[in-house]
Amino acid sequence: MTTLDTLEERAQTRSAAFGADALIVCDSLVRIYQSEGIEVQALQGLDLLVDDGELVAIVGASGSGKSTLLSVLSGLDVPTAGRVRVGPWDLMAMTPAQRVQYRRTMVGFVWQQTARNLVPYLTAAENVAFPLALAGTGSRERAARAAELLELLGVAYCAERRPGQMSGGEQQRVAIAVALACSPRVLFADEPTGELDTATSHDVLEGLRMVNRELGTTVVVVTHDPGVSEHVERTVAIRDGRTSSEVVRRRHTADDGTEHVVAEEFAVLDRAGRVQLPQEYREALELAGRVRLALEDSHVSVWPDKPRVTPSRGPATGRHAAVPEPSRGEAASDQEEQR
Ligand SMILES: Nc1ncnc2c1ncn2[C@@H]1O[C@H](COP(=O)(O)OP(=O)(O)OP(=O)(O)O)[C@@H](O)[C@H]1O
Ligand SMILES: [Mg+2]
Repeated sequence: MTTLDTLEERAQTRSAAFGADALIVCDSLVRIYQSEGIEVQALQGLDLLVDDGELVAIVGASGSGKSTLLSVLSGLDVPTAGRVRVGPWDLMAMTPAQRVQYRRTMVGFVWQQTARNLVPYLTAAENVAFPLALAGTGSRERAARAAELLELLGVAYCAERRPGQMSGGEQQRVAIAVALACSPRVLFADEPTGELDTATSHDVLEGLRMVNRELGTTVVVVTHDPGVSEHVERTVAIRDGRTSSEVVRRRHTADDGTEHVVAEEFAVLDRAGRVQLPQEYREALELAGRVRLALEDSHVSVWPDKPRVTPSRGPATGRHAAVPEPSRGEAASDQEEQR
């Protein structure tokens, strides 16, 4: 018999298993903002797993919840419900002191506004050394670390310049160096290229890739930059506060030995079994409200509730109005499928 105890036990094993090996786990994250009596659901049960050492881009329309997600992950904001873990840190259950410790040691952050990332009256090298001084690192080590990071990001020549004497792209690369000063395991960047032109954005995104490859830092970058998928292996799209699709890039070696990159787009099936059908699929087959699902040998097909009337076949008769039985051949060619 199912008792409250067995249900509790089951719930615990389920959540322990989800993302047990991942560095970052977001499990059914909800964040509701209340302002002037209006409720905004910025995150609506978002699931996301990021492995140690990954470089992941997050894309999505304005207002889809990207910054909210990054604020939660960087310890600035607390979600309304769900579960969120980064490494050993349970972000729902941290004391204020632990939160400070988490932000100092585990994560680094780069903001969109270049001016927000750097202290205007300190040079680039002093900006990088600043968080190390707060952490009690000796001056020689601070200088060495600053030089090493500025070199890695290709802005060693800016070491003695103040932010006002650098371009936006140079400032953002110095900002990445600052965020990495205390060797965090994860680097979060919210639209670091938002104020930059295409060529400069490219340098900043390459800087993030270099950091990921050379230092092994896990990087999560939010961006509007359509060119981002050239720089990352995985792009996660957020729609209406949920992860909706992912583009994964893989190196593929053909039979003749030539290597090329294959980008594949996947829909994301969430923990509750929900999947978002792209708008163009829904419109093409007038899928709305009720749909029929059919389990096939290797896939699931989704059918409209009513048969569609095509002009060439004439108006629907009583017979046509009956719901068609999905046949295997048709389902594979005509209908939207879940891969
Ligand atoms: N402090 C807040 N109070 C009330 N509503 C908020 C707050 N912060 C964000 N929101 C709302 O939550 C939703 C998600 O906002 P968020 O900033 O996460 O979007 P975003 O994807 O980062 O958008 P953008 O691409 O424009 O930066 C929006 O509808 C926004 O208006
Ligand atoms: Mg934002």
